[in-house]
Amino acid sequence: MKGVILAGGSGTRLQPVTLATNKHLFPVYDKPVIYYAIEKLFAAGIDKIMIVTSGEHIGDFVKLLGSGQHFKRPQGGQVQIVYAIQNEPNGVAYGLYIAKEYVGTEDCALFLGDNIFEDEIESHIKSFSGGARVFLKKVPDPERFGVATVDSSGKVTAIEEKPMKPASDLAVTGLYLYDATVFDKMLDQQKSARGEYEITYLNNKYIAEGTLDAVMLEKEWFDVGTFDSLLDAGEYMRTKKRKSKQ
Ligand code: G1P
Repeated sequence: MKGVILAGGSGTRLQPVTLATNKHLFPVYDKPVIYYAIEKLFAAGIDKIMIVTSGEHIGDFVKLLGSGQHFKRPQGGQVQIVYAIQNEPNGVAYGLYIAKEYVGTEDCALFLGDNIFEDEIESHIKSFSGGARVFLKKVPDPERFGVATVDSSGKVTAIEEKPMKPASDLAVTGLYLYDATVFDKMLDQQKSARGEYEITYLNNKYIAEGTLDAVMLEKEWFDVGTFDSLLDAGEYMRTKKRKSKQ
């Protein structure tokens, strides 16, 4: 399985800092935001990762991450990072589309680089056998996210992007597993009202096909797109690190 990390975006909610740099380079306690995504995928057995970001910031990512030499397995081997440029911030599905040739006919794990997950994901990646898999988390503010409607058997029957009246409190988080048919599903896609190629559109196509399943996350999850969540994530990581040293 290939990994695709999206690290573009204008970071409007983090201005003025993002006027000069990219939010995925900010520190969350002792590491840049994007380290958490790379480490999570690497720990789940994914060695080949494409980072998709803007031309404006790609040099900084190359300086920070190189070919992946900072991420090594004890038994040998490292992450192999490649880079791609997304010229327009046209949405999550568009970012994935840029990785089409890189992913080829393999499955892929699409990771939004500003998401930080505490749950292990390895078992869910290893057991993936086609279709699509999303990761849901109960949140107090579902209207900020894609929101899943789930039936009594736990099956996702619909996903709505940032609904004014959410059907549940289950946010669709920024990690998605797809088979290679995801790229065919983009062919007739139009931009949404907010001017983006939405990942929710593709997920709903898998739902219509009956091939999307969902994992419920139990542990902490952060989407560090705001100053508050950035600080929350940093404090959480500091406490975790201090506890691990005791
Ligand atoms: C994107 C997705 C949304 C998802 C969120 C998770 O939103 O469109 O469905 O819940 O990531 O972080 P965005 O951050 O692009 O507004």
